[in-house]
Amino acid sequence: MIVRERFGTDDSGKEAELFTITNTNGTQLKVTTLGATIVSFVFRDKEGTMRDVVLGYDEAASYLEQKGYYFGATVGRNANRISGARVTIGGVEYALEANSGANNLHSGSNGVSHRVWDTERVDEKAGSVAMKLLSKDLEQGFPGNMTIKVTFTLTGDDAVRIDYEAVSDKDTIANFTNHSYFNLAGHDSGYIGEQKLKIYANAFTPVAPTGSVPTGEICPVEGTPLDFREFKEIGREINADYDQLVYTKGYDHNFVLDGGGRFGLMAEAICEATGIHLYAYTDRPGVQLYAGNFIETHKGKGGALYGERHGFCLEAQCFPDAVNIPLFETPLLKAGEAYSSATMYRLSLD
Ligand code: BGC
Repeated sequence: MIVRERFGTDDSGKEAELFTITNTNGTQLKVTTLGATIVSFVFRDKEGTMRDVVLGYDEAASYLEQKGYYFGATVGRNANRISGARVTIGGVEYALEANSGANNLHSGSNGVSHRVWDTERVDEKAGSVAMKLLSKDLEQGFPGNMTIKVTFTLTGDDAVRIDYEAVSDKDTIANFTNHSYFNLAGHDSGYIGEQKLKIYANAFTPVAPTGSVPTGEICPVEGTPLDFREFKEIGREINADYDQLVYTKGYDHNFVLDGGGRFGLMAEAICEATGIHLYAYTDRPGVQLYAGNFIETHKGKGGALYGERHGFCLEAQCFPDAVNIPLFETPLLKAGEAYSSATMYRLSLD
């Protein structure tokens, strides 16, 4: 079942819609056309209590007030950081907004995350809603008029599947992600440190001491607090005196997925208190684990108080700054070529 309602407007006054998709298990997904954003994901825990496992807000205005968090949003055209806020494509240098020190983060303030997308298709039978946005030539600094489509599907086995499609009329960058903050004890239950995480990655891309941009190296996770090859509490080593964690105030790193770009499991997380188990899949080469280190205390859905490390993100994407690091797989999209990618987050009690 899909219910459609109004959600408020974006900065230009365009009306956003909110869709509530419910499957036959009673699992419920809310998505809005404001930023093609996941607003809530409600699942029955082991005691039978319905738990909303992602952070968010009740109305559009709060998303616009708190743009820097990207709660549940689609991020693009380029997710994560670009050093020096510039990119060279076809020998031409394009200037981007320097919105994170000297660097560009999540494509700047004119990103796709806070604009109202058009509803393209609502498919009751499939449990899906498709949204579309035209990102104009140079609007974010990137070349090419780009049509972006994101389809959210709530599957019969309690997964939200996110399909991204894009095409541009000039060579450009395409590197989209979803920025949901998970808290498997419930969005309103505070610190996520006791929840256990496993990441299917043997290596990560270390960052420089300042600016959070990769050095270009690929380092094994073995022997470091970034080793999540076996389930480990997120909080167990988050405060370790390890330079990489000191630079970023906790986990905020890209992992080199063992799957190397083939659709498969990228990570799992478990909350023992609720029994909720998250299985995350992608076809991207990397995943940014961000442990909510910079969330300041403020009100979220239903008046819940959110704060530092109250949610963790598993942002599937190309490696950060891949546009400037030849060793990293390029997020370049050729003119007229079809970009397509998928990420899926499935909830289960097993
Ligand atoms: C980045 C963080 C940033 C957060 C919110 C994450 O993707 O890695 O450094 O604070 O987004 O903007």
